[in-house]
Amino acid sequence: MRWIIDTDAGVDDAIGIGMLLALGPLRDQQVSAITTVSGNVHVSQVNVNVGAVLDVFGADVPIYAGCDRPMIEPRVHAEEFHGADGLGGAGLSKTSRRPQREHAAIAMSRLAEQHAGDIGLIALGPLTNVALASNLDPSLPDRIAKLVIMGGAWQARGNQTSAAEFNIAADPESAHVVFERFPNVIMLPWEVSLDQMMPFEVFERIRAGASPRARFFAAMTRVVYDWRDRFGFAGVPLPDPLAVAVALDEGVIVRELKARVKIDIGHSIGRGLSSLDYRHPQPNTRVVVAVDADRAWQMIERAWVS
Ligand code: RIB
Ligand code: CA
Repeated sequence: MRWIIDTDAGVDDAIGIGMLLALGPLRDQQVSAITTVSGNVHVSQVNVNVGAVLDVFGADVPIYAGCDRPMIEPRVHAEEFHGADGLGGAGLSKTSRRPQREHAAIAMSRLAEQHAGDIGLIALGPLTNVALASNLDPSLPDRIAKLVIMGGAWQARGNQTSAAEFNIAADPESAHVVFERFPNVIMLPWEVSLDQMMPFEVFERIRAGASPRARFFAAMTRVVYDWRDRFGFAGVPLPDPLAVAVALDEGVIVRELKARVKIDIGHSIGRGLSSLDYRHPQPNTRVVVAVDADRAWQMIERAWVS
């Protein structure tokens, strides 16, 4: 199985990317491309952050730069969580790697045609690139074996607004298009990462590692203590890594609901809401509502401490 990772790296994106780079080959899964999108930070900064993660894993994976703004919404970023540079403001955001000339959406279409049925897409940021790619190439959704999305809030416990999760709220129109067009979606909603946080004892053990990867992890995750102080978190919410854990091994899923996910693209309090329609005749989304989090933490530790 091949994967395209679409990301707005961000600290938790970086942890998830490292998981797939390190553990994918052990499961006959490889990262064919990393596409970047505006989200946590500007896409130009995401390009640098992805390069930095590829450097620390010594991975030969092409980067394709994507959309620098949402379809309709003005740009929104999340530096207050991920630092001004997107990797915790720890001075890690530097690399000599540069993105390819091909746009992310074009690369998605080309790779899906080349590897139809044997390539998946993991979306860890706003869905702008994925929606654009499906507009450019209407056959794309049927060529993608599975689309794993970190995004949405199945119980409407939002983190960007009262009702909407950041990746969806940043570009609701693109999310609407994607959830309507892709036939095989697995959605890892925000609430799971709130209800199943990494224990600080595990977090500290990984941060204490001596390897270059562990030192990188420790540096970029200093911001987690700000999250704890600001929100009183009893653990570490890691949404993107949970989505990657599900992509690596669906055995991580403990409970899921089948539904059609409807995105509110109105302009009231519900904008960006991801509502589960259980009555729809074509439920195209498996909404993961509980995972075996300990297995996900083991994956993170194995990927980042070695
Ligand atoms: O709401 C959490 C999501 O928004 C994660 O993907 C995080 O990286 C941010 O992009
Ligand atoms: Ca992300």
